[in-house]
Amino acid sequence: MTPELSTDVKNILGLQLPTDPRWAQVSSISLEAILTDHAYCEQKAATTCISLIQRYSEREKLVKELAPIVTEEWGHFRMVLNEMHKRGWKLGKQRKDEYVNRLLPFQRKGGAIEERLLDQLLTMALIEARSCERFKRLSEGLQDEYLKNFYRRFMESEAGHYTLFY
Ligand SMILES: [Fe+2]
Ligand SMILES: [Fe+2]
Repeated sequence: MTPELSTDVKNILGLQLPTDPRWAQVSSISLEAILTDHAYCEQKAATTCISLIQRYSEREKLVKELAPIVTEEWGHFRMVLNEMHKRGWKLGKQRKDEYVNRLLPFQRKGGAIEERLLDQLLTMALIEARSCERFKRLSEGLQDEYLKNFYRRFMESEAGHYTLFY
């Protein structure tokens, strides 16, 4: 890892453990698997925002801020789907999301609604931060210029979402 990236990851995103830079090379072996996982991540980001809007519908600021994110994440899903179709790939089955599944137990289930909302927003911030970091890795590690740019734009967008949820 370059020192520049490590500072980036720690200071900007607050992630304690950076992704191994070799991950991007591994991922280039199966772009289809990466795009499939990515498509479902975008889909889940959109549906999570919808759930938050439904659950906290009386919170005007939250509804106002999250409504456009739903559109954006769904747009991301469609962009990824388009890349798959261009290559003759189908969306395929969703894989178990080990990362998210291990984060969810840290959310408080009982207690004040404020605390539960806080945990949900922080979980979303973490997921966005990790996505942003992975997209950065892909934008730097992939060989294909088109895909580098493709992931660079995702990286910027997810960085904005991280900031919003945080
Ligand atoms: Fe997204
Ligand atoms: Fe996002």
